[in-house]
Amino acid sequence: MALDLGGMRIVVTAGGTREPIDPVRFLGNRSSGKMGNALAETAAAAGAAVFLITAAPPPVVRDIRVIQVTTSDEMHAAVRDTLTPGSVLIMAAAVADYRPADVAEHKLKKSPDGVTLRLVPTVDILSSLAADPMREQLFVVGFAAETDDAVANGHAKLVAKRLDLCVVNDVSQPGIGMGADDNAVTIIDAAGVVADIPRAPKVEVARAILEIISQVAPSR
Ligand code: CTP
Repeated sequence: MALDLGGMRIVVTAGGTREPIDPVRFLGNRSSGKMGNALAETAAAAGAAVFLITAAPPPVVRDIRVIQVTTSDEMHAAVRDTLTPGSVLIMAAAVADYRPADVAEHKLKKSPDGVTLRLVPTVDILSSLAADPMREQLFVVGFAAETDDAVANGHAKLVAKRLDLCVVNDVSQPGIGMGADDNAVTIIDAAGVVADIPRAPKVEVARAILEIISQVAPSR
């Protein structure tokens, strides 16, 4: 059956945030934005109003509203500005957990003694939403990148971040997950495993995730 997301407002985050060190350097990660782009494209093709908040190159598709960001702070602000009551949020982005405590105004010079960077935690976007008065009117889907005990760790994130669904991927397996063209995920809710989606191109995984969202998110 054709996927119909007409009437849904879906906010997707994608890509890896970049946290500046100085004017020419940043701390980043291997996320390519492909999973988030696939979710945004598939949701738009199925009739949803789609907002893509991304730290990666977006897909060239007319019916997606793209908000380009760089840092975790910018992504956080864009998520807050874009969410409205009734929205579905899918946090596929690999948000940095730490950023440099100080950003040098000028390019750091090479030093024979090396350099020590002090890192401080970034805001956890999903956790901050968990306490937001609007939370009751949102449907929130998080991702969990795990290397071991994937489902148990994913469940702990679902509870801690107050998620409706958590898409767990085992990032230790070669060829899937961060930066790859394919993914394999397990989708869980508070009661346990909802679906196991075996290795497939990210567009197919995106479609399977959106099918589950369309079945379980509150009706529009
Ligand atoms: N996330 C977030 N804000 C952050 C870090 C992560 O909203 N500052 C979101 C991610 O977009 C993802 C979920 O939280 O949907 C889980 O991210 P993940 O990297 O798997 O977990 P962390 O919470 O960062 O925990 P850890 O790295 O210890 O596994």
